[in-house]
Amino acid sequence: MNTNQNQKDIDIKTSLSNAYATIRSQLPWSHPKSPEIMHHRILPHATYSPWLLDENFQNIYALIKEHTLVDIYRCYELWTLAHQFKKVPGNFLEVGVWRGGTGALLAKAIDKIDSDKLIYLADTFSGVVKAGADDTVYSGGEHADTSIDIVNQLFNKINLFNYKLLEGIFPEQTADSLEGKIAFLHCDVDVYSSAKGVVEWTIPRLSTGGAIVFDDYGFSGCEGVTRLVNELRENKEFIFVHNLNGHAILIKK
Ligand SMILES: C[S@@+](CC[C@H](N)C(=O)[O-])C[C@H]1O[C@@H](n2cnc3c(N)ncnc32)[C@H](O)[C@@H]1O
Repeated sequence: MNTNQNQKDIDIKTSLSNAYATIRSQLPWSHPKSPEIMHHRILPHATYSPWLLDENFQNIYALIKEHTLVDIYRCYELWTLAHQFKKVPGNFLEVGVWRGGTGALLAKAIDKIDSDKLIYLADTFSGVVKAGADDTVYSGGEHADTSIDIVNQLFNKINLFNYKLLEGIFPEQTADSLEGKIAFLHCDVDVYSSAKGVVEWTIPRLSTGGAIVFDDYGFSGCEGVTRLVNELRENKEFIFVHNLNGHAILIKK
């Protein structure tokens, strides 16, 4: 390595350690409505990034990334979890679809497993509902900038046909169309009461060995979901995992 390259590497390391120090120096905070839920900038030291060389993931991620609010770390975890939980009996369910990004990622992971396995994609397609006293930032109606057409177009573009769209409030208005057991639930609804209704409907239908992934557990602004999961994690029927990317995962024993 020449001296110039050496100097460049030293400069990068110095700027990186300054950047890390700046980010870590932000003081912990909480929302006044939920002082018991503390936040701090999470910056793990780990660097292993298997998604970079996972060609199948990169191909689907390139197609869905403009259709999702979910970052690559959570998308990659959904991808790897879906490949494991597709062996569990039952269908997949996503509540909170918006423009279809994570739904398409999950559909791709379970595509062609067997002719029957599909993913139900439930959304009001008119924004968040049931925001209430347990929520800090959401007030209802957010993420209404989508439509069934936008989602169908994405799935057609990727040649995915293993899905059924459910338009309306889940579970009250649409759950009747679901049949059979659930192997995997991706719950991405942002607020306490909505997530509670989704989970209470799902738990009796969740197969043994099935999983529930909460997108919103680790995020400032989604304290309602954090609170709900902290209540649910006491349930001895489940193994609880908190991933520092923000996901919470419950696995039915
Ligand atoms: C953050 S967005 C979902 C993001 C999406 N998973 C992605 O890949 O970007 C949350 C969605 O949840 C939907 N939603 C919230 N509560 C719902 C409920 N009870 N039934 C149906 N849809 C709901 C909203 O309409 C909104 O589109």
